[in-house]
Amino acid sequence: MNAPPSQFGRIAKEYEKGRRAYDFNAMEYVCALIRKASNKDHPLVLDLGCGTGISTRQLYQNRIQVVGCDKDEKMIDVARKHDSSIVYTVGDSQDLRFCKDYFDAVTAFGAFHWFTDVESIVNIQHVTKRRGIFAVINKNDTGDFRQIFDESLNDAIGFVPRHAKLNYNPVKSLRERLFADVKEATFDGFEMYDLDEVLMLCQSLNAWNSVPEGKRRKVLDELRKNFSARLRSEFYTRTIETVVVSGVNNKR
Ligand SMILES: C[S@@+](CC[C@H](N)C(=O)[O-])C[C@H]1O[C@@H](n2cnc3c(N)ncnc32)[C@H](O)[C@@H]1O
Repeated sequence: MNAPPSQFGRIAKEYEKGRRAYDFNAMEYVCALIRKASNKDHPLVLDLGCGTGISTRQLYQNRIQVVGCDKDEKMIDVARKHDSSIVYTVGDSQDLRFCKDYFDAVTAFGAFHWFTDVESIVNIQHVTKRRGIFAVINKNDTGDFRQIFDESLNDAIGFVPRHAKLNYNPVKSLRERLFADVKEATFDGFEMYDLDEVLMLCQSLNAWNSVPEGKRRKVLDELRKNFSARLRSEFYTRTIETVVVSGVNNKR
């Protein structure tokens, strides 16, 4: 059984309010990898699955020339409102309309688990220069955030949506598709949320789309109760690791 398709546009407002920037050191690491491989100070990068542009803006602030691309028009609309100097386009990894070798690198922040299919990876390789980097970045929970979310849903409505990252193994995906020098780097960190913010984070998960409209109030009450019990000085601390998996495009 596959995870339900991503429908982030339906929760774009919550996404905008609930999601946080990527770890500073992980971002520096990604930019350094791309600069080194391309031998350019300002490489041209496709940020695929860019959503509301959180990662795209961070790349831009790191002096990367970046194009943000997402299949969901509503996410792109929000991204465009932030910074008109960044180019955003609506596009699907399965139908990438860029010229061969157009980009020095491609990044996928919190997104690759939605498009690990062969067609998407072949398209990514097609638009990336030979020896260019494909970098896949994911935040993984190392604390109890997801457990509280799942248990709250289970207690409120007797149902836990399937995790999109179940069976997700980006190292394996990149090796299988013949990327070279596939490696993984991990950066530990944490994010602080007050109660309203952590409830917004919960509603920004794609899994929230699986909660029937009529039961959302009940689920929110359960989430509020369970996260309230975990607050310290009015804040919930979400511990995470940011994992960067990178590979070098080895195509001929
Ligand atoms: C969790 S969001 C990550 C957004 C952003 N990179 C961030 O870190 O905040 C995943 C994004 O991937 C997009 N997405 C999913 N499948 C896609 C595909 N096949 N092609 C392009 N974008 C896709 C979704 O629309 C969604 O905006």
